[in-house]
Amino acid sequence: MKIHSLLVGLLAVGVIASCAKTPQAENEKKAPAPVVVAPPKAPAPQPRAGEPVKPVEAAKVADQAKVELGKKLFFDPRLSKSGFISCNSCHNLSMGGSDNLNSSIGHKWKQGPINSPTVLNSSMNLAQFWDGRAKDLKEQAGGPIANPGEMAFTHELAVSVLQSIPGYVDEFKKVYAADAIDIDKVTTAIAAFEETLVTPNSRFDKWLNGDNAAITKEELAGYELFKSSGCTNCHNGAALGGNSFQKMGAVEPYKTKNPAAGRIGVTKDNADRFKFKVPTLRNVELTYPYFHDAGAPTLSKAVEVMGQIQLGKKFTEEENANIVAFLKTLTGDQPKFTLPLLPPSTDKTPAPQPFGK
Ligand code: HEC
Ligand code: HEC
Repeated sequence: MKIHSLLVGLLAVGVIASCAKTPQAENEKKAPAPVVVAPPKAPAPQPRAGEPVKPVEAAKVADQAKVELGKKLFFDPRLSKSGFISCNSCHNLSMGGSDNLNSSIGHKWKQGPINSPTVLNSSMNLAQFWDGRAKDLKEQAGGPIANPGEMAFTHELAVSVLQSIPGYVDEFKKVYAADAIDIDKVTTAIAAFEETLVTPNSRFDKWLNGDNAAITKEELAGYELFKSSGCTNCHNGAALGGNSFQKMGAVEPYKTKNPAAGRIGVTKDNADRFKFKVPTLRNVELTYPYFHDAGAPTLSKAVEVMGQIQLGKKFTEEENANIVAFLKTLTGDQPKFTLPLLPPSTDKTPAPQPFGK
């Protein structure tokens, strides 16, 4: 009994003594010295080497004033004959830079011939359009303004509209240090804006940069299958596409009612019949429907068709679901900006002709 109570007493003293040594108690006596417990050092994530897919780099803006002007022009419907259709009508930046329609709707509700590709990350393309007929964004931007089935205007009229608006005249002068507006300055500004429309920081890019927890087991399995099946033969690099023209139907013909013949229209080389620019798979979750003819309404259907006609593979339901899950990790940070305010027209501005032929 005696020994027992002695032990209890000693233990109690020990407890009190150790209590007195808690950091708070010591800090109360001495000058406050915060106790910083360093967290165990996690090894810094290392970018994964040797992957056929690379992360998207953030845009480097060289001339912010030009980008701001280009943004206004991208959203300005007065570059169209109707005064109603802007670049953003068919490349809606609230919807992944596309219109989510089978084929675009142009002047006087005209049905377009082909699905509109996204403008997001389009600066990475080796050329523009499905058949690559424009060599870069600047050359591309002149196309839709004068295309009778799209904005149905002329370059001269578009320029005369801008020239009649003092707000634009001032802004062009500021950007180009020149008085006269011309189509070259218009398309250069639009291209400068489009170059900022990149989408870094997708979950997959975080994984590529070494963050193992950024994607799930299923998504990783999807990526492994995407690589091992051969999808990366054509969908590789930072954009997972955009860097080559490939036959639609490499191992089995693709059936479509759409008359587009692809790259042959540019090269006149029979070997290029039915070759199309490989589309980027960045943000592909947002840019449905798929293929130049919109033949695949869903991502699952697009993956099934690709497996079959490009690689001669039939995926199981689970494999298809994993690849689709992987593709959805490719959605990056969407461009964020304030909707531009467009300078108002004046009495001299040519009137829009929404129903003019
Ligand atoms: C009426 C709908 C419509 C309008 C308006 C329109 N586009 Fe397009 N855009 C399309 C379609 C459809 C294509 C694909 C055409 C093709 O490949 O033959 C396309 C292609 C593009 C491409 C090529 C992307 C790629 O991956 O090849 C870019 C860039 C682009 N448009 C930017 C613009 C800009 C800038 C404007 C405004 C000046 C504009 N578009 C106006 C429908 C439209
Ligand atoms: C031989 C080259 C090649 C291979 C291999 C290939 N693709 Fe494609 N992919 C293309 C081309 C070309 C297109 C556009 C075809 C068209 O619209 O006419 C395309 C389109 C797509 C699209 C639709 C994108 C859009 O915006 O319309 C998806 C999704 C896709 N591929 C996924 C895959 C997957 C998944 C695999 C592997 C199972 C794969 N691709 C293998 C060349 C290829």
